[in-house]
Amino acid sequence: MRIPLMAGNWKMFKTPAETTDFCERFLPLVAEARHCEILLCPPFVSIAAAVAATAGSNVGVGAQDVFWEKEGAFTGEVSAPMLKAAGCRSVIIGHSERRQYFGETNATVFKKTVAALGAGLQPIVCVGELLEEREAGRTNEVLATQFREGLAGLGAGEFANVVIAYEPVWAIGTGKTATPEMAGDAHRFLREQVSSAFGAEAASQVRILYGGSVKPDNVAGLMAQPDIDGALVGGASLKPEDFSRIVNF
Ligand code: PGA
Repeated sequence: MRIPLMAGNWKMFKTPAETTDFCERFLPLVAEARHCEILLCPPFVSIAAAVAATAGSNVGVGAQDVFWEKEGAFTGEVSAPMLKAAGCRSVIIGHSERRQYFGETNATVFKKTVAALGAGLQPIVCVGELLEEREAGRTNEVLATQFREGLAGLGAGEFANVVIAYEPVWAIGTGKTATPEMAGDAHRFLREQVSSAFGAEAASQVRILYGGSVKPDNVAGLMAQPDIDGALVGGASLKPEDFSRIVNF
């Protein structure tokens, strides 16, 4: 039985004060939600405000990136033990925007995932194809490579704590959602990759989230797919009303 995870990826939005305000309005709207886990991933500077505002609630806090070293002369970076100490439960790794603008590769995704697990954080590892890759019929090949290089090298015990997020890059922030069938196919393919690498038991347990223009009015169709175990939500997670409607799909 996989418990759905509804995660908000705020990207570079919301100051600490805006974070507190969001939580004050959002928490009552999801206080009765028992069917899923709920996660907010604010920018680094707003993590403390989110942790304070969600204390004792059913909403957890995560980060949007992490560096793989524990500490050292790495100006601008934040480590996994620091995120853990700040009250984070999870961390998004390998988001397509990190891959596109900040040089993230499958190799760095792997190092960050190992570091997150070592600090007791749940990594939410993003994979997904570009539009030209989908149009060229290369979706499965791209997903297989991202999985093999980014995740398959983990130990089985480590992998048990990983969440995968399938985010077709052409669907992120564009209003173009993958159809439930398209997403379902990709999720099934990813679960097969997990089965080959870590066995059938791991494949039946791993949560695979869908991300890319998830909105209150399309979430139910996506969640009806048997292999979709939650959502990683960008734009629609910024408004308490919208994100609560997604959580309470
Ligand atoms: P979106 O972003 O919901 O705004 O498309 C999703 C994501 O990038 O995680």
